[in-house]
Amino acid sequence: LVIVLDFGGQYNQLIARRVRECNVYCEVHSYTTPLSELLAKNPRGIILTGGPNSVYDMSSPHYDKALFEAGVPILGICYGAQLMAWSLGGKVATAPVSEYGKTDVDIDRSGRLFGDVSPRTVAWMSHTDYIAEPPEGFRITASTPVCPVAAMEDDSRKLYATQFHPEVTHSAEGMKVLSAFVLDACGCSGDWRMDDFVERTINEIREKVGSGRALCALSGGVDSSVAAVMMSKAIGKQLTCVFVDHGLLRKDEGASVDRVFGPEGPYDLNFVHVDARERFYKALAGVTEPEQKRKIIGEEFIRVFEEEARKIGAVDYLVQGTIYPDVIESGLGKSAVIKSHHNVGGLPDHVDFKEIIEPLRMLFKDEVRQAGLELGIPEELVFRQPFPGPGLGIRIIGEVTAEKVKIVQDADAIYREEIAAAGLDRQVSQYFAALTNMRSVGVMGDFRTYDYAIALRGVTTSDFMTAEAAQIPWEVLQKCMNRIVNEVDHVNRVFYDLTSKPPGTIEME
Ligand code: XMP
Repeated sequence: LVIVLDFGGQYNQLIARRVRECNVYCEVHSYTTPLSELLAKNPRGIILTGGPNSVYDMSSPHYDKALFEAGVPILGICYGAQLMAWSLGGKVATAPVSEYGKTDVDIDRSGRLFGDVSPRTVAWMSHTDYIAEPPEGFRITASTPVCPVAAMEDDSRKLYATQFHPEVTHSAEGMKVLSAFVLDACGCSGDWRMDDFVERTINEIREKVGSGRALCALSGGVDSSVAAVMMSKAIGKQLTCVFVDHGLLRKDEGASVDRVFGPEGPYDLNFVHVDARERFYKALAGVTEPEQKRKIIGEEFIRVFEEEARKIGAVDYLVQGTIYPDVIESGLGKSAVIKSHHNVGGLPDHVDFKEIIEPLRMLFKDEVRQAGLELGIPEELVFRQPFPGPGLGIRIIGEVTAEKVKIVQDADAIYREEIAAAGLDRQVSQYFAALTNMRSVGVMGDFRTYDYAIALRGVTTSDFMTAEAAQIPWEVLQKCMNRIVNEVDHVNRVFYDLTSKPPGTIEME
């Protein structure tokens, strides 16, 4: 285990991902976690992340100095590097020249982390403070003309620091630096494997639940499906899977979930289908603010489950398909809360269950898929594009109504058909239609129209933390536009969303 200690930087999850790419298991913990708690996990190494603060400002996040004497190899990155320097008696100050972006860095290849790195390499810098003088015992292992300490190390104490960000792809040889840290300096074996993780998680669940009963929130999406199958392997018939049709599903999705998970399907689940459409529309009537919509949908969801649980009798655990990015984006550490995710931030205070189990809580999306394959879930389900818990509720900008749901469902179905027909469904990571709350004037036949605009979105991404707009061929988009304006009532305009993430998010709300 390597621990990423989160000081609020924007690349913290990326660090965790990169460590896992070295086949080393990794968890992110907030800098508010006490040292004793961290050390109790027996980490082979600790990485201190970047962050927006200045270490010499006493109100900035600091950490118990005993961390550096615990005998655990430590890598400080950016703010983490400065924190290491400052804590150990070095000098950190405002840099005379800030560095931002791709920067040429001169490397001392005798440094423990730099043996495989070119003498001059391109690395990503983003700092206004710098280490003016390293602490005693450290030697400088990288520099730039304006940043004397771009990296430093005290190999005898296994303390390492880089001012640049090895975790971002803009740092051309960043992975070499990170893998040298985890594999060489920390001595991790690099044999963490998904099948071990799946087996261990199944055993842990079995042990934890004992003879108790669990209720699983099944949405038909990749995450909850993988969670459900994992739970079912762990506890069999002690699990009941409840599928709530909240009226915010894609077209015909209810029926397809029934086909896969219902009694006719390949899984031995206690499967319950709840039609709660009217209830959700009622709760959402008149509500336009995105966070409020998310909270209402999340809360309503839990209420429906509570009711189902009561019908079933005593239920001890609620299972959810929350994945790691949801956990972190909902504000685990000091990173700003972007959206309160359904399953995490959207939870009401009062829940009628003993505990919540989230078997995928530590996995990134592509790892969830890998776990799904390990579990023998069919590929078409495993590679199904993700669908958010709040469903079409966050793809209808502004108030949600049954009529608007129908519009966006029909447009989305056409878009999906055409993307599949063009053979692009596995290339585009996520694609969907959203209904803007904009109406505009058009002409159809000889008549003036004043109708809604549909926005088509398509992104390519591997981890859903950053994304690019997919380059869908013009002919495909044009065909979608044609069909949507002709076949879907109340739509007279179609946009394609070019925004990357950041600054956009994948969903519109
Ligand atoms: P954003 O919009 O945050 O989306 O860039 C990143 C990924 O997460 C999905 N998403 C959600 N999934 N509950 C979920 O289970 C949610 O509340 C939620 N919000 C966004 C989104 O579809 C994308 O894949």
